[in-house]
Amino acid sequence: MLEVKSTTGLVALIGYPVGHSLSPLMQNAAFASAGLDLVYLAFAVAPPDLPAALAGLKALGFMGANVTVPHKEAVIKYLDAVEPIAARIGAVNTIVNKDGRLTGYNTDAGGFLRSLREAGFDPAGKQAVILGAGGAARAVAFALAGAGCAALTIANRTLEKAGCLAAELTGLKVPVGACNLQEEELRPRIEGADLVVNATSAGMAPAVEAVPLPAAWLNSRQWVYDLVYNPLETKFLRQARQRGCRVISGLGMLLYQGAAAFTLWTGKTAPVEVMRNVLLKATGEPM
Ligand code: ATR
Repeated sequence: MLEVKSTTGLVALIGYPVGHSLSPLMQNAAFASAGLDLVYLAFAVAPPDLPAALAGLKALGFMGANVTVPHKEAVIKYLDAVEPIAARIGAVNTIVNKDGRLTGYNTDAGGFLRSLREAGFDPAGKQAVILGAGGAARAVAFALAGAGCAALTIANRTLEKAGCLAAELTGLKVPVGACNLQEEELRPRIEGADLVVNATSAGMAPAVEAVPLPAAWLNSRQWVYDLVYNPLETKFLRQARQRGCRVISGLGMLLYQGAAAFTLWTGKTAPVEVMRNVLLKATGEPM
C-alpha cells in the first residue's frame, strides 16, 4: 500500500470522463516499482473548467499531468510551451511542470511507433491506411509520415476531416490521400496496403459489434493495428487474425505512451515490464 506523505509528489490525469482509464493503475505501479515518492490521480474536468484545472496544477505544485479526451487539443492554449512534435500534431497528452512553467508533449505518436516496431513492423517504405481523422489518428499519421512511410491514406467517415489532416501532412514529403469509408473509394486502397490502422472508436466497448470495414477486404500479407484496447481483441482484430493478417492491439501504444510520459516527469527509464503486467492483468489477459 502506497504511503502518502507531506513530501509526496503529484501527477494528474485530466480528462472527461476518466473513470475508465488504466493510467492510474499503470503509473502508480511504475512509481512504486521505481521507489519514487509520487502518486498519480485522475480528475474528471469538464471542458469549461480546463483553464482552472491547469492553473491548479501550477498552484498546487503538481509535477506534471497526462491529458486525455476531450482536452488534448484544447489544452494547448493554456500551456507556457509546446514541444515541436506536439505542436505539429496539434495535440498534447503529457505536461511537465518545471518551476511553474507548463510544457506540453505528445507521447502518443512515439508510443505508437515503438509498439509497431516491437511487434515487428518497420513502416519505412510501406503503404499505410489510417481509419479515422480524430486526435488518435493525427498522432498515428504524423508518426507514420515521420517514420518514412511510402504512402499514406487517411480514410474517415467525415471526408472533410480526412482532407484537412491529409493537407497538414503534405509538408512531410509523403504522398497522402484522403477518402471516406465507402467501398468504391476505400477497398482498393485497403487491398494495396501493407498496414491498416483502426484509429476510429468503432468496436470500443460497449459497442463491441462495430467494425470500421469488412474483413473480406483484408488479406494475409497485411498487418492490422487496432488502437482500441477495450476489448483487447476487437471484433475487427479477431476477423483480421482469422483472415491470416498479423494483428496488434492498442495495449502497446497505451504502454509506451505511458512509459515516455514517466520518463518526462521523472528523468528515469520506465519499468516497462511492471507497467505491461499491470495492463495485462487489468484487461484480463494471462501474464
Ligand atoms: P480520438 O481522440 O480517440 O481519436 P476523436 O477525436 O473523437 O477521438 O475521433 C474519433 C474518430 O472515430 C473520428 O475519426 C470519427 O469519425 P468522424 O470524424 O466522422 O466523427 C471516428 N468514428 C467514431 N465512431 C465511428 C464509427 N462508428 N464508424 C466509423 N468511424 C467512427
